[in-house]
Amino acid sequence: MKVGIIGTGWFAKTHAAILGDMDGVEVTAFCGTSIEKADKEARNWSNAKGYSNIDEMLEKQELDAVYICVPPMAHGAIEFSLIERNIPFFVEKPLGMDEQPLEIAKRIEEKGIITSVGYHWRYKETTKKALSLLQDRKVGMALGYWMGDMPMVPWWRDVTKSGGQFVEQTTHIVDLLRFLCGDITEVYAAYSSKIMQDKVEGTTAPDVGSVTMKLVNGMVATISNTCILTNSSKVGLDLFTEEGIIELRNEHLREIKGKHILEHKEQVNPYIAENEIFLEAVKTGNPTGILSDYKDSLKTHTVTLAANQSAISGQPIRLGF
Ligand SMILES: NC(=O)c1ccc[n+]([C@@H]2O[C@H](COP(=O)([O-])OP(=O)(O)OC[C@H]3O[C@@H](n4cnc5c(N)ncnc54)[C@H](O)[C@@H]3O)[C@@H](O)[C@H]2O)c1
Repeated sequence: MKVGIIGTGWFAKTHAAILGDMDGVEVTAFCGTSIEKADKEARNWSNAKGYSNIDEMLEKQELDAVYICVPPMAHGAIEFSLIERNIPFFVEKPLGMDEQPLEIAKRIEEKGIITSVGYHWRYKETTKKALSLLQDRKVGMALGYWMGDMPMVPWWRDVTKSGGQFVEQTTHIVDLLRFLCGDITEVYAAYSSKIMQDKVEGTTAPDVGSVTMKLVNGMVATISNTCILTNSSKVGLDLFTEEGIIELRNEHLREIKGKHILEHKEQVNPYIAENEIFLEAVKTGNPTGILSDYKDSLKTHTVTLAANQSAISGQPIRLGF
């Protein structure tokens, strides 16, 4: 299979490295904001070419699938070009930073294009374990966290380019909550910005926030985030159930009941899993293994945008799902 990659940054390189280890997959094109950056990535491959224009790349290459690994503000034209040519794509979260993904989702649906979105927490073995534990217990509430430091790429700190931490980063935890506990009906958010704007020039993204949500199943959840720390501290989701706490973190799931703690270590690399499943779907034309397609991810994206809107207006936002 011939694959093209749009973006030449950290996560484009991460996906390229995974694709490079897969049998029958060849990365043949990179598209970047400059031909120099694209050519630099292409040189790591025996048969790849660099481009600085997506339409030129798509005209000159016969690609079976494309990976979109660009910052939130760069989405839109890329997706429309791929949809026009019926090319399946894997897109890194978030889908964007505004409501344009609504139109993109509509056109994907009309054309029946296979898509996958990089919500990799869904592919973890520990997430599968949590789903099976939830078969025999009810969750009353959830607390989620993305407590860390500020990624130092310039677009991230600019709220008009990234959408801010809740849209850009904490979206993983919102998506995990939806995957495990179902859809969200109401969102209320409080954000603040007291520290990073004085430390890092150009910071307009809030540096702390808490978002409280009501779910269709009657649960209440609060997910908080901050980027004021000097390193990543606590990232994950705690589910409070009638049978104790299910604690999900990057490396483990813990079942906590009083003093008794049962730990399950993560056994799979979810980034490899999401790539294998996406390309298998493209090869066979059967998307059922994909755990996070564009249409479903749009719901997570809508929740995070509603949180931003609530933080500005001070009012709760009701969602239509
Ligand atoms: N799933 C995950 O765990 C995970 C981890 C890291 C990043 N990401 C996501 O991946 C995306 C990219 O993040 P990153 O860390 O690679 O950022 P980065 O800043 O390292 O790289 C972004 C790249 O996109 C390029 N770019 C920007 N606009 C473009 C356009 N119109 N066409 C082509 N290239 C363009 C930039 O030149 C840069 O090379 C972000 O949305 C981020 O949230 C996901």
